[in-house]
Amino acid sequence: MEELLRLRKAFGVALVSISHDIALISRLSDRLMVMYAGILVEKLPSNSFDVAQHPYTHLLVNSIPKLEEDIAEVQPIRGSPPRLISSIIGCPFLERCDYAVMSCRDESAAVLRQTQPYHEVACSVLPVFPSANMKAQKLRKREDSGNSTSNKAVVLEASNLTRIFEKRTGIREIATSASNKIVAVSKVDLTVRSGETVALVGETGSGKTTLSRMLGLLDAPTSGQVKIMGELVNLRKKKEIMAFRKIIQTIFQDPFQSINPRFPIASTVAEPLTVNKRASATQTGSNNGDFQQQGFGSVLSNAENRETMVVKALQEVELSPPEDYLEKYPHQLSGGQRQRVSIARGLIVDPKILIADEPISMLDVSLRAGILNLLRKLKYDFGISVLYITHDVASARYLSDRIYVMYKGEIVETGETEDLIRRSAHPYTIALLLASIGIEGSISEKLGERIFSQSEAADNKGCLFAPRCQFAQDICSAEKPELMQMSESHSSRCHFAQDIQGMGLTELRPKK
Ligand SMILES: Nc1ncnc2c1ncn2[C@@H]1O[C@H](COP(=O)(O)OP(=O)(O)OP(=O)(O)O)[C@@H](O)[C@H]1O
Ligand code: SF4
Ligand SMILES: [Mg+2]
Repeated sequence: MEELLRLRKAFGVALVSISHDIALISRLSDRLMVMYAGILVEKLPSNSFDVAQHPYTHLLVNSIPKLEEDIAEVQPIRGSPPRLISSIIGCPFLERCDYAVMSCRDESAAVLRQTQPYHEVACSVLPVFPSANMKAQKLRKREDSGNSTSNKAVVLEASNLTRIFEKRTGIREIATSASNKIVAVSKVDLTVRSGETVALVGETGSGKTTLSRMLGLLDAPTSGQVKIMGELVNLRKKKEIMAFRKIIQTIFQDPFQSINPRFPIASTVAEPLTVNKRASATQTGSNNGDFQQQGFGSVLSNAENRETMVVKALQEVELSPPEDYLEKYPHQLSGGQRQRVSIARGLIVDPKILIADEPISMLDVSLRAGILNLLRKLKYDFGISVLYITHDVASARYLSDRIYVMYKGEIVETGETEDLIRRSAHPYTIALLLASIGIEGSISEKLGERIFSQSEAADNKGCLFAPRCQFAQDICSAEKPELMQMSESHSSRCHFAQDIQGMGLTELRPKK
């Protein structure tokens, strides 16, 4: 987007950005238009989502975590968008709107009317939304989040985990038997503690999925090891892996691909019970008192049959009434509902650890808040440890106690969430924070532009981030930085970590 803006300036062309990322487009556009069910519901001047007057726009803004605000509870939008199989008369948002009155059914409710200069809204009510003060009651304190789990047992541990892909590409490689090596994950150390939510953050191609598949026991590493509940897993022994599958479950990015369209929801959710039946006797490490959570299993242990267990699982992911979903097929559900089905399928085997690989990135913005809040609930209600994988630092901050930042297969920074965000000590983390900046604008946009405008160079033997780094010195391309400990729980892989942290580039400004 920075590049598009540069081109716009250079050539004087008009730019129309179409996106569900309202934080990004509010930063980039002079005028904003909000569309719902095929019609424009609001036109706003730039950077003014906070004065939105249409209930849909207002809810949309409140349904995404923002980096610059303190942690406000994100509000899901109830229901799902209408299926546009026949024309809609009146306001298309009617069924999901808390402010609807009879006149919303009139044709005129869907017509844009000017309410302020440069501001048009298609709403016959124009409700007054709760004030900022009332909203403030829902803010959460973040300060104590990391400490609460720091003395808990480690349930998932990766040591020196590496995955190298061999990729033969061109004629030359085939003729010479030379191969391109892609080091997707390089010597990663990572821990997840009991009842902790840990976020793994990085841009596309940084190796998040490759790492998560090894941690979720779906792929074997090239080298390194994984311990689950303190036990070393032999990732080449299928039987052993099956025993651990009951403890660790993975939720995938795409709810449209990850559940079989030919099976009803009841069979889909119950499937892991069959798969894990033989493995159920092997509850490695479950005698350790630290792992005795209130757990989803305690809810299910008295269940009399599979259907009861399925109903319970559907209830816990807030698909209600659950009985209505048992016979439905995936195509009859929204993306958010399908993702809930995937989570229910993971929960039914009473896992201790859930790996969620970008679980909201394929969902409509209005459905994301619901899944984020559900993942929070799993931690608080069932004590499940969650590894949340994302490229969005704002949602990582919303959910996690600790964050690992990954770049080109390496962990470049790790720390307790608030400490890492407020006192970032790696230029790449700072760049990610700037890319994810909230609606209010940014702190050091110039730095963000600079970092993301630099093109990638070939790998060098020094710091992998050096070609894009504003702070790079000669040593950076010559010598590989090690993870440097900034405090007990905060480390950064940068030669100048201390200087960069001292600059306070990510100190968050209070909202104007
Ligand atoms: N099976 C494979 N064969 C060859 N290369 C692969 C394979 N799987 C992943 N890679 C490469 O490994 C690197 C990391 O990929 P990965 O999918 O783990 O990244 P990611 O961080 O999950 O990205 P995204 O955010 O787009 O999901 C990429 O360069 C990718 O092209
Ligand atoms: S080591 Fe050098 S190039 Fe790498 S992130 Fe730090 S300053 Fe930038
Ligand atoms: Mg991925």
